[in-house]
Amino acid sequence: MNVEELRLLAREASSRLDQVTSHQSLEEFRVAYLGRKGKVTRLFEELKTLSEEERRPLGRELNELKITLERKMEEKKSSLASSHGEKDESFDPSLPGLRPSYGRLHPITQTVREITGLFERLGFEVVEGPEVETEFHNFTALNIPLDHPSRDAFATFYTKEEENREPYLLRSQTSTVQIRVMQKRKPPLRIVAPGRVYRPDQVDASHSFMFHQIEGLMVDDRTTFSELKGILQLFLRKLLGPDTKIRFRPHFFPFTEPSAEVDVNCFLCQAKGCSVCGGKGWLELLGAGSVDPAVFEQVGYDPKRVQGFAFGLGVERIAMLRHGIPDIRMFCENDLRFLRQF
Ligand code: DAH
Repeated sequence: MNVEELRLLAREASSRLDQVTSHQSLEEFRVAYLGRKGKVTRLFEELKTLSEEERRPLGRELNELKITLERKMEEKKSSLASSHGEKDESFDPSLPGLRPSYGRLHPITQTVREITGLFERLGFEVVEGPEVETEFHNFTALNIPLDHPSRDAFATFYTKEEENREPYLLRSQTSTVQIRVMQKRKPPLRIVAPGRVYRPDQVDASHSFMFHQIEGLMVDDRTTFSELKGILQLFLRKLLGPDTKIRFRPHFFPFTEPSAEVDVNCFLCQAKGCSVCGGKGWLELLGAGSVDPAVFEQVGYDPKRVQGFAFGLGVERIAMLRHGIPDIRMFCENDLRFLRQF
């Protein structure tokens, strides 16, 4: 064996490889050159019989030839696979592609974002608080004393009582976030706090053991009830339409004084009276009022120097009224036929 022979073989192999047009002839080529008795393999055997000086340069060249042939065979193999007649039968390029399925926001999340977005435009900041709360934040600081009978309606799930520690419970209202924010910051404050709340309620079409509320709070050295009215009117008209009428009905909440329930004229029947508004023409949507001085005292504010108002609304109720959803349980069933409509 000498260099000329080797180069001749290289040329011969590469022109034969050029003529390969099928996987079968490629395999024949491999056997003929690189197989156990192939021409290149044989030369490797022959190499062993040569002297040291002859072996070095020929060995290097032979190795290069082997590597080149292996690379070219790989290239041939992939070009055969992608060329006509050899294509993968399981791939049909004429089929339509797979459409990615997009997720979407849950109708409750959409409603929360829409409402908090409206308040953000009025200068309110969105804050959140914990769902597992102390009795102090859920009751005492909100002017609901330990022995007050209204605690029963809000007695949710309590954690085990431990010595030297207040029991925790699932919060029954987002009013707890008012307390948390006021404990941490000084007025002026303008916040809205969306979140989940829990109640020991029997589940039916309009009640659930878990639902969402949005709490609002504004505190400054001076706020007025007419500002509360103006803000809620602006908000409800943005949410429900420019013709929305609102009315305040006197009510009682422990943490506000005076307190009111806020109704809007029934937008389902244009206030003519329907089954949803019970023929009254009005829908009850919010609770609101001026922050009770007792609450300010609980968080270390001086009730003589600050004033504020607060309000709270139920998100499910608003979403149900706006979209005509008949049953609150539908929000939690994960039925895509329902969820895809939003
Ligand atoms: N926390 C009340 C509830 O769960 C809602 C509410 C009413 C919040 C009046 C307020 C308010 O801030 O002023 O029913």
